[in-house]
Amino acid sequence: MSSATQTTATAPIPLSSKPAGRASLGAKTACIRTFGCQMNVHDSDRIRRMIQDAGYAEVQRYEDADLVILNTCYVRENAVDRVKGHLGELNRLRREGRVKRVALTGCIGAAEESAALRETYDIDLVLGTHNTYELAEFVGLPTMRETYTPELPGTEGGHNAFVTIMTGCNYQCSYCIVPTVRGRMICRPMGSVIGEVERLVAGGTGYVTLLGQTVDAWRHEGKRFCDLLEAVSESAPRVWFTTSHPSNMEDRTLRAIGERDTLVKRLHLPVQSGSDRMLRVMHRGYKAERYRRKIEVFREAAPDGTLSTDIIVGHPGETEEDHEQTLRLVEDCSFDSAYIFKFSPRRGTEAASLPGTVPDAVVQRRFLEVLRLVEQNAFTRNQRIVGGEEEIYIRHGSTEDGKAIGETWSGHAVHVNTKAEPGNYVKARIESAGPHVLYAGEPGTLV
Ligand code: 5AD
Ligand code: SF4
Repeated sequence: MSSATQTTATAPIPLSSKPAGRASLGAKTACIRTFGCQMNVHDSDRIRRMIQDAGYAEVQRYEDADLVILNTCYVRENAVDRVKGHLGELNRLRREGRVKRVALTGCIGAAEESAALRETYDIDLVLGTHNTYELAEFVGLPTMRETYTPELPGTEGGHNAFVTIMTGCNYQCSYCIVPTVRGRMICRPMGSVIGEVERLVAGGTGYVTLLGQTVDAWRHEGKRFCDLLEAVSESAPRVWFTTSHPSNMEDRTLRAIGERDTLVKRLHLPVQSGSDRMLRVMHRGYKAERYRRKIEVFREAAPDGTLSTDIIVGHPGETEEDHEQTLRLVEDCSFDSAYIFKFSPRRGTEAASLPGTVPDAVVQRRFLEVLRLVEQNAFTRNQRIVGGEEEIYIRHGSTEDGKAIGETWSGHAVHVNTKAEPGNYVKARIESAGPHVLYAGEPGTLV
C-alpha cells in the first residue's frame, strides 16, 4: 500500500482494470489512459466496454492506437499538468500520422478549463462525467440514452470489480472541485446495486469495492448505507468501500466492519485537518473531537483493522497552531497510512480566492512533518503483525522477482512469494514490515 504521497488520489490501492488484448492487423485500435481516483478507473471500465462493443481492440501504447481516450482528473493542478503533457505528445503523434482521433473525458472534460485545452490541443471530443454515454455515438455504436452513469454496465469477469453506488457530492468543501465537475449526489437504487453484485459474483468476481465520493451518505427509499453494505456483504465473498465522509459515518457501519467476515477491515476516512478552525473554514461539518470518537469506535470494533485518511496541508489561512493540531490528531489516531496533499488552488472553488496563502517552503515543511509522523506510526503498528500467519488475497500476480502483491483481511498490503493467480488466497507468515507494506515468507499454501 502506498502511503503518504502527494501524487496518489483517494484510492489507497489502485486496482487493476481489465487486461488489454493486442490489436490484430487491420483492426481498429483504441488506447484508454486513466488519471485519478477509483471512480475514474471504474468509468474507464465502462468506456472499455463501449469501445470493445464497437469493434476496437485495446492497445497500451499511443503509437499503436487509432483512437486515444484520456479519462481525466481535475482534483489538483498537477493532475491537469500531467494531462497537458499527454495531449502535447498526442499532437505530435497526430502530426506523424499515427493517432487519428483523441477524446477527453472525465473531470477535466466537465470543467471550464476543457475549452482552453481544446484551443491549444487537437481534441475531437470532450465529454464530462455525466454524458460519458455520448462516446457510444462517437465510436460508431447506436446512440445511448442514459439518465445517469451508474446504470451503464461495468466490466464483468475480473477477479475484483468496482460497483458505483452513488455519484456526485452534496458537500461544498472550500478547496474541492468535485461538486462542480461531478454534480450533486445521486444514489443508485439498492436493487440495482445488489443485482450488479450478484451478476459479478456469478461471473467469477471474488472482491467487490463499493464506490462513490461519499458512499456513507448513500440513502434510498428509507435505507441507509449500512443496510446496503450488509446486503452486499451477504452477496459477495470479499467487500470494501471507499470513500467516506466523517459526518455521515455511522457507528453501526463501523461495528459492521468488525463483525462481518466478508468485509475487509479497513477504513478510509478523510479528515483533512486536525484543527477545528480549519475544519470550519473548509466547511467539513465536524470537529476534530468527533472524528477522534469515530476512530475510537472503529479501533474497538476492529482492533486489527487498518485506518487511512486524507490530509491537506497549506490550505489558505493555515497557521502553525492549526498544523500542530493536525500533528496531534495524526498522533492520536495512529493512521496506518495517509494521503497527504499540498493545497492546490482550483479555479471556481472558494479556497482559490481566500487570503492567507501559505508560502511553498512552509507547505513543504508541514508536508514532511505530517508524512514522517504517519510513517513512524505506521511502522510501529506494522511491527506488531510480524511473526503472525495471515490469509492473503492476491491482487496482482507475481512479477519476475517472484513477488505477488496481496492484501490481508485487515487491509494491509503484503508482498508474498507465490505464483498464485490474482483472486486466489494464500496463507503465509509475515516476516518483516516497513511503513507501507508487509513482507511474507516462503510460498503460502493455496487456500
Ligand atoms: N488541493 C489539495 N488537495 C485536495 N484534495 C481535494 N481537493 C484538493 C485541493 N484543491 C484532496 C482531499 C481529498 C482528496 C481526494 O484530494 O484530501 O480528500
Ligand atoms: Fe470534495 Fe468535500 Fe465532496 Fe469530498 S466531501 S468530494 S472533499 S466536496
